[in-house]
Amino acid sequence: MDRFSIRGGTRLDGEIRISGAKNAALPILAATLLTPDPVRIGNVPRLRDITTMIKLLSSMGVELRADEHGEVLACAARVTDFSAPYELVKTMRASILVLGPMLARFGRAHVSFPGGCAIGSRPIDLHLHGLQAMGAQIEIDGGYINARVTGRLRGAHILFDKVTVGGTENLLMAACLADGRTVLENAAREPEIVDLAHCLQAMGACISGAGSDTLVVDGAEQLKGCAYPVMPDRIETGTFLVAAAATRGRVRLLGTRSDTLEAVLVKLAETGARIEHGPDWIELDMAGKRPRAVSIRTAPYPAFPTDMQAQFTAMNAVAEGSSTVIETIFENRLIQVHEMNRMGARIGVEGHTAIVEGMPSLKGAPVMASDLRASASLVIAGLVAEGETVIERIYHIDRGYECIEQKLQQLGADIRRLCA
Ligand code: EPZ
Repeated sequence: MDRFSIRGGTRLDGEIRISGAKNAALPILAATLLTPDPVRIGNVPRLRDITTMIKLLSSMGVELRADEHGEVLACAARVTDFSAPYELVKTMRASILVLGPMLARFGRAHVSFPGGCAIGSRPIDLHLHGLQAMGAQIEIDGGYINARVTGRLRGAHILFDKVTVGGTENLLMAACLADGRTVLENAAREPEIVDLAHCLQAMGACISGAGSDTLVVDGAEQLKGCAYPVMPDRIETGTFLVAAAATRGRVRLLGTRSDTLEAVLVKLAETGARIEHGPDWIELDMAGKRPRAVSIRTAPYPAFPTDMQAQFTAMNAVAEGSSTVIETIFENRLIQVHEMNRMGARIGVEGHTAIVEGMPSLKGAPVMASDLRASASLVIAGLVAEGETVIERIYHIDRGYECIEQKLQQLGADIRRLCA
């Protein structure tokens, strides 16, 4: 398995281009199941998770062509297999996003029940309850979800007990071909859902309320093909901004947007960073100063995103002062703290709260990645630590960050991939 070797102590300095958003591209790829027409998707990041979704759709009979410029052409005219096998689903939970589109278009689906992961049990009860409310019969058998509907799904009024990004996406896609009107209340408002809604509208779907907590969908008989560019990745953007702040450096990020991560920018300004942004760029400059510690509490959008929590914990570990990090979304997402403490960080955990005492520096050490964003936080810790940090199991990071070591090298970091 590949590893990263990082020699810390260099301030990041320079500019890089941000890739397309993984968490928008994944549901948009699943949405291609909703039409027999070709769908051309632009700005698709080259990531392990994207490759897995393409493999899954291809195994169903979707014709897919991906070029080296990040464009994917998909055509679901001849879908012959309505199953999502365990071998693929176990490597990427987001495979569950094919369930709604398959039921809506074909009336049947056989999808492996996604297990939990390092950060939590990751249930899908809200997805299933919503589809049942729309008329689907659902059984769980041998670790698989067997779902069927006689005729079309029917519009329903669904109130989510909890805000769920994937649940909102699955039911939004299902509602686009349902018979009648569907209302999704207490829906998630993440920008990736707005991006999915815009793509569905380009396919002819009748959706209102995108970006609010109430989505209203009038189902269509059929959707058509379209060409749609995926939004920039706001979490990759935030990750590089935090890395620059932690290393007291300066970065300019191109091909990104500032209106999708305001909670992150507000917190970064509190560290003492100078932040400027334009229509498609963001620049952060620490002017060589040590960041001030900032306390954060994760919550659904537009509040502070859970996918940025681990990165801020790493920055707080070397910031001036103490801070608290409260994780309210996932039950086990403070997992990276233990590896950071092996690097000399002083972080205590009480329930869902990490108490971080900022240290003047960390010491490089061999550490192990456990999930995607925890891996990113260990890279940030390695960038600020004295000496060498070797990060094991970096396949986690390859799932969600395109060419991260090349981008960091472009910013002056001493990082190398050690191929196994
Ligand atoms: C999406 O996961 C993202 N993944 C996650 O990003 C992100 O952390 C998460 O949303 C929260 O923003 C993708 O978009 C592919 P949820 P998802 O359903 O949809 C509970 C990354 O690093 N819940 O919003 O699985 C659940 O247990 C990944 O890129 C239920 O109880 O998250 C959790 O506590 C990690 N029942 C909370 O809701 C359900 O049926 C939020 O989960 C569904 C969810």
